[in-house]
Amino acid sequence: MLVRNVCLPDGRSGQDLLVQHGRIAAIAPNLSAPEGVEVIDGQGWLLSPPFVDAHFHMDATLSYGLPRVNESGTLLEGIALWGELKPQLTQDALVERALAYCDWAVAKGLLAIRSHVDVCDERLLAVEALLHVRERVKPYLDLQLVAFPQDGVLRAAGALANLKRALDMGVDVVGGIPHFERTAEQGAASVKLLCELAAERGLPVDMHCDESDDPLSRHVETLASETQRLGLQGRVTGSHLTSMHSMDNYYVSKLIPLMAEAQLRVVANPLINITLQGRHDSYPKRRGMTRVPELMAAGLTVGFGHDCVMDPWYSMGSADMLEVAAMGLHVAQMTSQSGMRACFDAVTRNSARILGLDGYGLEPGCHADFVLLQARDPVEALRLRAQRLLVVRRGQILSRMAPALASLTLPGEAPRTVDWLQQR
Ligand code: FE2
Repeated sequence: MLVRNVCLPDGRSGQDLLVQHGRIAAIAPNLSAPEGVEVIDGQGWLLSPPFVDAHFHMDATLSYGLPRVNESGTLLEGIALWGELKPQLTQDALVERALAYCDWAVAKGLLAIRSHVDVCDERLLAVEALLHVRERVKPYLDLQLVAFPQDGVLRAAGALANLKRALDMGVDVVGGIPHFERTAEQGAASVKLLCELAAERGLPVDMHCDESDDPLSRHVETLASETQRLGLQGRVTGSHLTSMHSMDNYYVSKLIPLMAEAQLRVVANPLINITLQGRHDSYPKRRGMTRVPELMAAGLTVGFGHDCVMDPWYSMGSADMLEVAAMGLHVAQMTSQSGMRACFDAVTRNSARILGLDGYGLEPGCHADFVLLQARDPVEALRLRAQRLLVVRRGQILSRMAPALASLTLPGEAPRTVDWLQQR
Protein backbone atom coordinates (compact mmCIF):
# COMPACT_ATOMS: atom_id res chain seq x y z
CA MET A 1 0.00 0.00 0.00
CA LEU A 2 1.17 3.52 -0.79
CA VAL A 3 -0.66 6.44 0.80
CA ARG A 4 0.06 9.60 -1.13
CA ASN A 5 0.06 13.17 0.08
CA VAL A 6 -0.61 13.25 3.80
CA CYS A 7 0.33 15.56 6.69
CA LEU A 8 1.94 14.15 9.81
CA PRO A 9 1.37 15.18 13.45
CA ASP A 10 4.88 16.70 13.58
CA GLY A 11 3.88 19.23 10.90
CA ARG A 12 5.45 17.67 7.82
CA SER A 13 3.15 17.89 4.79
CA GLY A 14 3.13 16.40 1.31
CA GLN A 15 4.41 13.05 2.57
CA ASP A 16 3.90 9.61 1.04
CA LEU A 17 3.86 6.50 3.21
CA LEU A 18 4.85 3.12 1.84
CA VAL A 19 3.77 -0.08 3.57
CA GLN A 20 5.48 -3.40 3.02
CA HIS A 21 4.85 -6.66 4.89
CA GLY A 22 2.66 -4.90 7.46
CA ARG A 23 5.32 -2.36 8.38
CA ILE A 24 6.15 1.18 7.36
CA ALA A 25 8.86 0.89 4.72
CA ALA A 26 9.35 4.59 4.01
CA ILE A 27 7.91 8.05 4.64
CA ALA A 28 9.05 10.81 2.29
CA PRO A 29 7.69 13.07 -0.45
CA ASN A 30 7.21 11.62 -3.94
CA LEU A 31 7.85 7.93 -3.28
CA SER A 32 7.49 5.72 -6.32
CA ALA A 33 4.88 2.99 -6.15
CA PRO A 34 6.29 -0.51 -6.53
CA GLU A 35 4.52 -2.82 -9.00
CA GLY A 36 1.09 -4.04 -7.88
CA VAL A 37 0.87 -1.81 -4.83
CA GLU A 38 -2.51 -0.24 -3.93
CA VAL A 39 -2.26 3.56 -4.11
CA ILE A 40 -4.49 5.66 -1.88
CA ASP A 41 -4.84 9.42 -2.28
CA GLY A 42 -4.48 10.98 1.17
CA GLN A 43 -5.67 14.37 -0.17
CA GLY A 44 -3.47 16.26 2.26
CA TRP A 45 -5.27 14.89 5.35
CA LEU A 46 -3.57 14.13 8.66
CA LEU A 47 -2.13 10.66 9.06
CA SER A 48 -1.69 9.82 12.72
CA PRO A 49 -0.60 6.75 14.60
CA PRO A 50 -3.70 5.06 16.04
CA PHE A 51 -5.39 6.24 19.21
CA VAL A 52 -4.54 4.43 22.41
CA ASP A 53 -6.77 4.32 25.49
CA ALA A 54 -4.62 4.01 28.60
CA HIS A 55 -7.50 3.37 31.00
CA PHE A 56 -10.81 1.63 30.43
CA HIS A 57 -13.31 -0.75 32.03
CA MET A 58 -14.40 -3.16 29.34
CA ASP A 59 -16.21 -5.48 31.75
CA ALA A 60 -18.73 -2.75 32.55
CA THR A 61 -19.03 -1.04 29.18
CA LEU A 62 -22.37 -0.74 27.39
CA SER A 63 -24.26 -1.87 30.49
CA TYR A 64 -25.92 1.51 31.05
CA GLY A 65 -29.29 1.08 32.76
CA LEU A 66 -28.54 -2.44 34.03
CA PRO A 67 -30.11 -3.06 36.45
CA ARG A 68 -30.89 0.68 36.91
CA VAL A 69 -29.25 4.02 36.21
CA ASN A 70 -26.95 5.90 38.58
CA GLU A 71 -29.27 8.60 39.97
CA SER A 72 -26.75 10.61 42.00
CA GLY A 73 -24.03 10.32 39.36
CA THR A 74 -21.41 9.74 42.03
CA LEU A 75 -18.46 7.34 42.03
CA LEU A 76 -19.78 5.62 45.15
CA GLU A 77 -23.27 5.00 43.73
CA GLY A 78 -21.55 3.71 40.59
CA ILE A 79 -19.53 1.22 42.64
CA ALA A 80 -22.70 0.15 44.51
CA LEU A 81 -24.59 -0.23 41.23
CA TRP A 82 -21.79 -2.31 39.74
CA GLY A 83 -22.05 -4.51 42.86
CA GLU A 84 -25.76 -5.03 42.06
CA LEU A 85 -25.02 -5.87 38.44
CA LYS A 86 -22.14 -8.26 39.10
CA PRO A 87 -24.19 -11.27 40.25
CA GLN A 88 -26.35 -10.97 37.13
CA LEU A 89 -23.45 -10.93 34.67
CA THR A 90 -23.12 -13.76 32.22
CA GLN A 91 -20.10 -14.72 30.21
CA ASP A 92 -21.97 -14.35 26.90
CA ALA A 93 -23.33 -10.90 27.69
CA LEU A 94 -19.89 -9.68 28.80
CA VAL A 95 -18.24 -10.95 25.62
CA GLU A 96 -20.98 -9.55 23.41
CA ARG A 97 -20.76 -6.07 24.93
CA ALA A 98 -16.97 -6.02 24.87
CA LEU A 99 -16.84 -7.07 21.23
CA ALA A 100 -19.44 -4.44 20.32
CA TYR A 101 -17.26 -1.84 22.03
CA CYS A 102 -14.17 -3.06 20.15
CA ASP A 103 -16.06 -2.51 16.88
CA TRP A 104 -16.75 1.07 17.92
CA ALA A 105 -13.11 1.48 18.91
CA VAL A 106 -11.70 0.26 15.61
CA ALA A 107 -14.08 2.47 13.63
CA LYS A 108 -12.80 5.45 15.66
CA GLY A 109 -9.16 4.54 15.03
CA LEU A 110 -8.64 3.29 18.61
CA LEU A 111 -6.44 0.22 18.20
CA ALA A 112 -5.01 -0.36 21.69
CA ILE A 113 -6.83 -0.36 25.02
CA ARG A 114 -5.69 -1.04 28.58
CA SER A 115 -8.76 -2.30 30.40
CA HIS A 116 -9.11 -2.92 34.10
CA VAL A 117 -11.11 -6.02 34.93
CA ASP A 118 -12.77 -6.48 38.30
CA VAL A 119 -11.36 -9.50 40.17
CA CYS A 120 -13.64 -9.18 43.23
CA ASP A 121 -15.87 -12.00 42.10
CA GLU A 122 -15.25 -15.57 43.17
CA ARG A 123 -16.25 -16.82 39.70
CA LEU A 124 -13.85 -14.48 37.84
CA LEU A 125 -16.46 -14.41 35.08
CA ALA A 126 -15.34 -11.05 33.74
CA VAL A 127 -11.70 -12.14 33.73
CA GLU A 128 -12.53 -15.24 31.71
CA ALA A 129 -14.72 -13.26 29.34
CA LEU A 130 -12.13 -10.54 28.71
CA LEU A 131 -9.28 -13.03 28.28
CA HIS A 132 -11.44 -14.61 25.59
CA VAL A 133 -12.10 -11.19 24.04
CA ARG A 134 -8.36 -10.36 24.16
CA GLU A 135 -7.68 -13.40 21.98
CA ARG A 136 -10.65 -12.75 19.68
CA VAL A 137 -9.61 -9.17 18.91
CA LYS A 138 -5.86 -9.84 18.72
CA PRO A 139 -5.76 -9.66 14.90
CA TYR A 140 -7.06 -6.09 14.99
CA LEU A 141 -6.79 -4.55 18.46
CA ASP A 142 -4.28 -4.74 21.33
CA LEU A 143 -6.19 -5.34 24.55
CA GLN A 144 -4.20 -5.26 27.79
CA LEU A 145 -5.86 -6.37 31.01
CA VAL A 146 -5.30 -5.11 34.55
CA ALA A 147 -6.34 -7.23 37.56
CA PHE A 148 -8.44 -4.65 39.38
CA PRO A 149 -9.71 -5.36 42.91
CA GLN A 150 -12.66 -2.95 42.72
CA ASP A 151 -13.76 -3.53 46.34
CA GLY A 152 -10.24 -3.26 47.80
CA VAL A 153 -7.61 -5.98 47.81
CA LEU A 154 -7.51 -5.93 51.64
CA ARG A 155 -11.06 -4.76 52.30
CA ALA A 156 -12.88 -7.44 50.27
CA ALA A 157 -12.71 -11.04 51.43
CA GLY A 158 -10.84 -13.27 49.01
CA ALA A 159 -9.79 -10.37 46.76
CA LEU A 160 -6.05 -11.03 46.99
CA ALA A 161 -6.46 -14.72 46.17
CA ASN A 162 -8.73 -13.86 43.24
CA LEU A 163 -6.31 -11.24 41.98
CA LYS A 164 -3.48 -13.79 42.03
CA ARG A 165 -5.70 -16.31 40.23
CA ALA A 166 -6.45 -13.71 37.56
CA LEU A 167 -2.72 -13.12 37.06
CA ASP A 168 -2.18 -16.90 36.84
CA MET A 169 -4.83 -16.99 34.13
CA GLY A 170 -2.85 -14.48 32.05
CA VAL A 171 -3.99 -11.00 33.07
CA ASP A 172 -1.15 -8.63 32.13
CA VAL A 173 -0.97 -5.94 34.82
CA VAL A 174 -1.38 -5.66 38.63
CA GLY A 175 -4.10 -3.19 39.68
CA GLY A 176 -5.22 -1.70 42.98
CA ILE A 177 -7.45 0.88 44.65
CA PRO A 178 -5.70 2.08 47.82
CA HIS A 179 -8.08 4.99 48.56
CA PHE A 180 -10.97 2.51 48.82
CA GLU A 181 -9.31 0.38 51.51
CA ARG A 182 -10.65 0.82 55.05
CA THR A 183 -7.96 3.19 56.32
CA ALA A 184 -5.07 5.22 54.95
CA GLU A 185 -2.71 2.70 56.60
CA GLN A 186 -4.39 -0.21 54.84
CA GLY A 187 -4.31 1.74 51.60
CA ALA A 188 -0.55 2.17 51.93
CA ALA A 189 -0.20 -1.51 52.86
CA SER A 190 -2.13 -2.48 49.72
CA VAL A 191 0.20 -0.39 47.55
CA LYS A 192 3.23 -2.10 49.12
CA LEU A 193 1.74 -5.57 48.78
CA LEU A 194 0.67 -5.13 45.16
CA CYS A 195 3.97 -3.56 44.07
CA GLU A 196 5.83 -6.47 45.69
CA LEU A 197 3.56 -8.92 43.89
CA ALA A 198 4.28 -7.18 40.57
CA ALA A 199 8.03 -7.19 41.24
CA GLU A 200 7.96 -10.92 42.05
CA ARG A 201 6.07 -11.72 38.88
CA GLY A 202 7.85 -9.23 36.63
CA LEU A 203 4.59 -7.44 35.78
CA PRO A 204 3.69 -3.77 35.38
CA VAL A 205 1.45 -1.98 37.89
CA ASP A 206 -1.49 0.30 37.14
CA MET A 207 -3.47 1.44 40.14
CA HIS A 208 -6.59 3.49 40.57
CA CYS A 209 -4.91 5.86 42.97
CA ASP A 210 -6.37 8.71 45.01
CA GLU A 211 -9.55 8.97 42.94
CA SER A 212 -10.90 11.28 45.58
CA ASP A 213 -11.35 14.98 46.31
CA ASP A 214 -9.68 14.48 49.68
CA PRO A 215 -6.40 16.43 49.56
CA LEU A 216 -5.04 14.09 52.21
CA SER A 217 -5.44 11.04 49.99
CA ARG A 218 -1.71 10.67 49.33
CA HIS A 219 -1.24 7.07 48.21
CA VAL A 220 0.60 8.27 45.12
CA GLU A 221 3.48 9.16 47.45
CA THR A 222 3.67 5.53 48.62
CA LEU A 223 3.30 4.35 45.03
CA ALA A 224 6.30 6.46 44.00
CA SER A 225 8.41 5.34 46.94
CA GLU A 226 7.57 1.63 46.47
CA THR A 227 8.39 1.95 42.78
CA GLN A 228 11.76 3.35 43.77
CA ARG A 229 12.40 0.77 46.50
CA LEU A 230 11.60 -2.19 44.26
CA GLY A 231 13.36 -0.86 41.16
CA LEU A 232 10.12 -0.70 39.16
CA GLN A 233 10.89 2.65 37.53
CA GLY A 234 8.98 3.14 34.28
CA ARG A 235 6.69 0.15 34.94
CA VAL A 236 4.22 1.73 37.35
CA THR A 237 1.20 3.85 36.47
CA GLY A 238 -0.93 5.96 38.77
CA SER A 239 -4.41 6.29 37.29
CA HIS A 240 -6.79 9.15 38.12
CA LEU A 241 -4.73 10.87 40.90
CA THR A 242 -7.61 13.33 41.27
CA SER A 243 -6.79 14.24 44.87
CA MET A 244 -3.75 16.06 43.47
CA HIS A 245 -6.21 18.65 42.15
CA SER A 246 -7.14 19.54 45.74
CA MET A 247 -3.74 19.13 47.39
CA ASP A 248 -1.78 21.89 49.02
CA ASN A 249 0.69 23.43 46.53
CA TYR A 250 3.60 23.19 48.94
CA TYR A 251 3.10 19.44 49.31
CA VAL A 252 2.74 19.01 45.53
CA SER A 253 6.04 20.84 45.02
CA LYS A 254 7.67 17.93 46.87
CA LEU A 255 5.45 15.20 45.41
CA ILE A 256 5.90 15.82 41.68
CA PRO A 257 9.72 15.51 41.80
CA LEU A 258 9.29 12.22 43.73
CA MET A 259 6.96 10.96 41.03
CA ALA A 260 9.41 12.04 38.33
CA GLU A 261 12.28 10.31 40.13
CA ALA A 262 10.25 7.07 40.16
CA GLN A 263 9.36 7.59 36.48
CA LEU A 264 5.73 7.04 37.35
CA ARG A 265 3.35 7.04 34.43
CA VAL A 266 0.17 9.04 34.94
CA VAL A 267 -3.28 8.57 33.46
CA ALA A 268 -5.96 11.24 33.74
CA ASN A 269 -9.52 10.46 32.70
CA PRO A 270 -10.93 13.88 31.80
CA LEU A 271 -14.51 12.92 30.93
CA ILE A 272 -14.98 10.93 34.10
CA ASN A 273 -13.02 13.17 36.45
CA ILE A 274 -14.96 16.27 35.41
CA THR A 275 -18.21 14.35 35.93
CA LEU A 276 -17.55 12.44 39.14
CA GLN A 277 -15.31 14.72 41.17
CA GLY A 278 -16.43 17.74 43.14
CA ARG A 279 -19.76 16.08 43.96
CA HIS A 280 -19.59 17.06 47.60
CA ASP A 281 -18.86 20.69 46.73
CA SER A 282 -21.49 23.41 46.60
CA TYR A 283 -19.86 26.37 44.82
CA PRO A 284 -17.19 26.74 43.65
CA LYS A 285 -17.09 23.14 42.42
CA ARG A 286 -13.69 21.61 41.91
CA ARG A 287 -12.78 20.19 38.50
CA GLY A 288 -11.02 17.21 40.03
CA MET A 289 -8.63 16.35 37.23
CA THR A 290 -5.02 15.74 38.19
CA ARG A 291 -2.38 18.38 37.44
CA VAL A 292 -1.73 17.44 33.83
CA PRO A 293 0.37 20.38 32.54
CA GLU A 294 2.49 20.49 35.70
CA LEU A 295 3.17 16.74 35.53
CA MET A 296 4.04 16.99 31.84
CA ALA A 297 6.35 19.93 32.54
CA ALA A 298 8.17 17.80 35.13
CA GLY A 299 8.88 15.24 32.40
CA LEU A 300 6.32 12.61 33.41
CA THR A 301 4.55 10.62 30.72
CA VAL A 302 0.87 11.53 30.98
CA GLY A 303 -1.81 9.69 29.01
CA PHE A 304 -5.57 10.14 28.90
CA GLY A 305 -8.11 7.38 29.29
CA HIS A 306 -11.79 7.10 28.40
CA ASP A 307 -12.36 5.11 31.60
CA CYS A 308 -16.07 4.47 31.02
CA VAL A 309 -18.60 4.35 28.20
CA MET A 310 -22.27 3.81 29.00
CA ASP A 311 -21.82 2.02 32.30
CA PRO A 312 -22.73 2.51 36.00
CA TRP A 313 -20.44 5.55 36.19
CA TYR A 314 -20.95 7.30 32.86
CA SER A 315 -23.87 7.47 30.47
CA MET A 316 -22.02 8.99 27.52
CA GLY A 317 -19.19 8.14 25.15
CA SER A 318 -18.51 6.49 21.80
CA ALA A 319 -14.89 5.25 21.93
CA ASP A 320 -13.78 8.63 20.60
CA MET A 321 -10.36 9.49 22.03
CA LEU A 322 -10.51 12.92 20.37
CA GLU A 323 -13.48 13.68 22.61
CA VAL A 324 -11.42 12.56 25.61
CA ALA A 325 -8.47 14.74 24.60
CA ALA A 326 -10.71 17.73 23.85
CA MET A 327 -12.22 17.49 27.35
CA GLY A 328 -8.71 17.18 28.78
CA LEU A 329 -7.56 20.37 27.12
CA HIS A 330 -10.65 22.25 28.33
CA VAL A 331 -10.43 21.05 31.93
CA ALA A 332 -6.66 21.62 32.13
CA GLN A 333 -6.95 24.91 30.19
CA MET A 334 -4.25 23.63 27.83
CA THR A 335 -5.34 25.97 25.06
CA SER A 336 -1.95 27.03 23.70
CA GLN A 337 -0.84 25.39 20.45
CA SER A 338 1.70 23.30 22.34
CA GLY A 339 -0.87 22.47 25.04
CA MET A 340 -3.39 21.21 22.50
CA ARG A 341 -0.74 19.16 20.74
CA ALA A 342 0.28 17.69 24.09
CA CYS A 343 -3.35 16.61 24.60
CA PHE A 344 -3.28 14.89 21.21
CA ASP A 345 -0.09 13.11 22.30
CA ALA A 346 -1.88 12.02 25.49
CA VAL A 347 -4.28 9.89 23.45
CA THR A 348 -1.65 8.63 21.02
CA ARG A 349 2.04 8.25 21.73
CA ASN A 350 2.07 8.93 25.50
CA SER A 351 -0.56 6.27 26.07
CA ALA A 352 1.30 3.90 23.73
CA ARG A 353 4.35 4.39 25.95
CA ILE A 354 2.30 3.64 29.07
CA LEU A 355 1.05 0.40 27.50
CA GLY A 356 4.59 -0.40 26.35
CA LEU A 357 3.42 -0.99 22.78
CA ASP A 358 6.05 -2.37 20.45
CA GLY A 359 6.59 -0.88 17.01
CA TYR A 360 4.19 2.02 17.59
CA GLY A 361 4.73 5.22 15.63
CA LEU A 362 5.33 6.61 12.18
CA GLU A 363 8.97 5.71 11.64
CA PRO A 364 10.22 3.27 9.01
CA GLY A 365 10.17 -0.16 10.65
CA CYS A 366 7.12 0.57 12.84
CA HIS A 367 3.94 -1.42 12.36
CA ALA A 368 1.82 -0.01 9.56
CA ASP A 369 -0.92 1.03 11.97
CA PHE A 370 -2.45 4.45 11.36
CA VAL A 371 -5.55 6.58 11.04
CA LEU A 372 -6.29 9.06 8.29
CA LEU A 373 -8.15 11.97 9.87
CA GLN A 374 -10.25 14.58 8.08
CA ALA A 375 -8.12 17.39 9.45
CA ARG A 376 -4.86 19.04 8.54
CA ASP A 377 -3.16 18.96 11.93
CA PRO A 378 -3.75 17.61 15.46
CA VAL A 379 -5.36 20.83 16.67
CA GLU A 380 -7.91 20.76 13.86
CA ALA A 381 -8.51 17.07 14.58
CA LEU A 382 -9.33 17.97 18.19
CA ARG A 383 -11.56 20.87 17.26
CA LEU A 384 -13.60 18.85 14.80
CA ARG A 385 -13.43 15.40 16.47
CA ALA A 386 -12.30 14.64 12.93
CA GLN A 387 -13.80 11.83 10.86
CA ARG A 388 -11.67 8.70 10.70
CA LEU A 389 -11.53 8.40 6.93
CA LEU A 390 -9.38 5.29 7.03
CA VAL A 391 -8.19 3.01 9.82
CA VAL A 392 -5.28 0.74 8.96
CA ARG A 393 -3.55 -1.97 10.97
CA ARG A 394 -0.55 -3.95 9.80
CA GLY A 395 -1.17 -2.47 6.35
CA GLN A 396 -4.78 -3.68 6.17
CA ILE A 397 -7.74 -1.32 5.94
CA LEU A 398 -10.07 -2.11 8.86
CA SER A 399 -12.54 0.74 8.55
CA ARG A 400 -13.60 3.55 6.26
CA MET A 401 -15.73 6.55 7.10
CA ALA A 402 -17.22 9.14 4.75
CA PRO A 403 -15.94 12.72 5.13
CA ALA A 404 -18.14 15.01 7.21
CA LEU A 405 -19.73 17.45 4.77
CA ALA A 406 -23.11 19.12 4.76
CA SER A 407 -25.10 20.17 1.69
CA LEU A 408 -26.53 23.57 2.37
CA THR A 409 -29.56 24.93 0.53
CA LEU A 410 -30.34 28.48 1.67
CA PRO A 411 -33.29 30.49 0.33
CA GLY A 412 -32.29 32.47 -2.74
CA GLU A 413 -28.76 31.08 -2.83
CA ALA A 414 -27.03 28.40 -4.86
CA PRO A 415 -26.52 25.07 -3.05
CA ARG A 416 -23.10 24.72 -1.47
CA THR A 417 -21.10 22.41 0.75
CA VAL A 418 -19.98 23.15 4.32
CA ASP A 419 -16.97 21.31 5.64
CA TRP A 420 -15.99 23.19 8.86
CA LEU A 421 -12.31 23.32 7.89
CA GLN A 422 -10.46 26.53 8.51
CA GLN A 423 -9.99 28.28 5.18
CA ARG A 424 -6.34 28.90 4.43
FE1 FE2 B 1 -11.11 3.51 36.25
